Amino acid sequence: MKIYHLSTECYPVAKVGGLADVVGALPKYQNKIKDIDAKVVMPWYNKHYVQEHDFEIVFDGFIHQADRLLQVLILKEKKITLGFELYLVKIPGLLDRDNPYGYQDESFQFLAFQQGILHWMTAMKIRPDVLHCHDYHTGLVPFMIDNCPEFGFLKGVKTIATIHNGEYQGIMSWSMVNYLPAFEHHKWGLLDWNGNINPLACMIKCATAFSTVSEGYLEELFVSFRGLESLVRDEFSKAYGIINGIDNEVWNPETDSMLDFNYSIKDVHSIKAKNKAQLCKEYNLDPKLPLFAFIGRFAIEKGADLLPDVVWRSIKQSYGRLNIIVLGSGNTYLEEKLKELDTVYSNFALDIGYKEHLSHQIYASADFLLMPSRVEPCGLNQMYAMRYGTVPVVSYTGGLKDTVKDVSTGGSGINFTYPGVQDVIHAITRALGLYQQEQTMKDLIISNMKFDFAWEKSAQKYLTLYKM
Ligand code: ADP
Ligand code: GLC
Repeated sequence: MKIYHLSTECYPVAKVGGLADVVGALPKYQNKIKDIDAKVVMPWYNKHYVQEHDFEIVFDGFIHQADRLLQVLILKEKKITLGFELYLVKIPGLLDRDNPYGYQDESFQFLAFQQGILHWMTAMKIRPDVLHCHDYHTGLVPFMIDNCPEFGFLKGVKTIATIHNGEYQGIMSWSMVNYLPAFEHHKWGLLDWNGNINPLACMIKCATAFSTVSEGYLEELFVSFRGLESLVRDEFSKAYGIINGIDNEVWNPETDSMLDFNYSIKDVHSIKAKNKAQLCKEYNLDPKLPLFAFIGRFAIEKGADLLPDVVWRSIKQSYGRLNIIVLGSGNTYLEEKLKELDTVYSNFALDIGYKEHLSHQIYASADFLLMPSRVEPCGLNQMYAMRYGTVPVVSYTGGLKDTVKDVSTGGSGINFTYPGVQDVIHAITRALGLYQQEQTMKDLIISNMKFDFAWEKSAQKYLTLYKM
């Protein structure tokens, strides 16, 4: 069975968030299943991975966007280094950039990505068994293969669509329609949602089946989906919730080369403390105090706007008996506010930016990981934290509620229902109480490290979807 994963991100080639981790791991684990051949197709980026690995051009062609002619190059990695064949789509002017997102013309960029892939497959007579589309950036693929005559060769190919984040839908005005490949015009309704072209809505309508990255998140979409609630209800019969796994080969404290000191269940208590001491030294924090961490995008959905109040209030209310470290970037107003606090409170450390190495160090050093998310389709941080013996303190939403149960019910972390400052502070107070109970905390760390978040189970679930 030939499966092509279509995605804008893939770890370690280009990563902005969890989408990359999933696309960098799922195909690798799928390829361990007999008769599965999973591959990844992503845009070309000006990134280290691309410069440092050997690629060959396997296709050179052209697509049209209205009267604009665009060259499409498909590059294939010569050796399989990631556990799957890797293809890059290069389109000078649109898909030859430093980063996946943040460009004014992203509608053109993602349209070209999808057209480029389908043009290549059609021209080279590559007919996959499954096209697995990730997020709205590839959301028009199911529509295009069934309704655009130029991709007729692919008509009927199974399409599985995974929604990693329904907050982003790629909405475009109908004035963009001329930039789409020609399609059977009476099918326009499939593209439309509330008077706009909506790639995410179109993906849900046209895919053979669609999945979300946790069951909890799927349930939430019925009541909160940025206007697509009724659509998900209508299409419920082909909706599935499949929780993400984690790549235990990358995220393993015993072998992780990004850590100062490696450890396992056997020596976690002594060695984790050494990592913590090292991190605290670097950021001028007292290693004897419990360390809370936040790692993530400074976005409303992550509850990052709560951080400034959470930082100063928790430090004040605990009389300085805790440390907080924040790694992330995004909203610039928030960045500035946190920078101010960094100069005032010695119990608070801030690192602005995207730093893969540091994130691993923090998972390995912190006692608690804070995730006050308002929306969390799955969330990987809480699973990484548990694997590294760090206790998650999370809001009760989406994938967080599926993966972290409260310690009061024998679970692995601390839940709070409402992502507001009061509730987060209350959860932190509970965590401080837990920290005082030395043996309970030690047992919790061990049982968290034993949790099985391996990809194998979810890879099997996707296989069932592909075979439907
Ligand atoms: P999302 O994809 O919504 O950002 P996830 O929890 O699924 O959230 O995944 C986030 C991923 O990105 C994790 O691997 C996390 O460690 C990583 N990450 C987020 N922010 C940073 C950062 N500033 N530096 C390094 N890694 C980060
Ligand atoms: C998205 C979601 C996150 C999820 C990730 C991988 O970025 O925000 O919750 O873990 O995709 O599926």
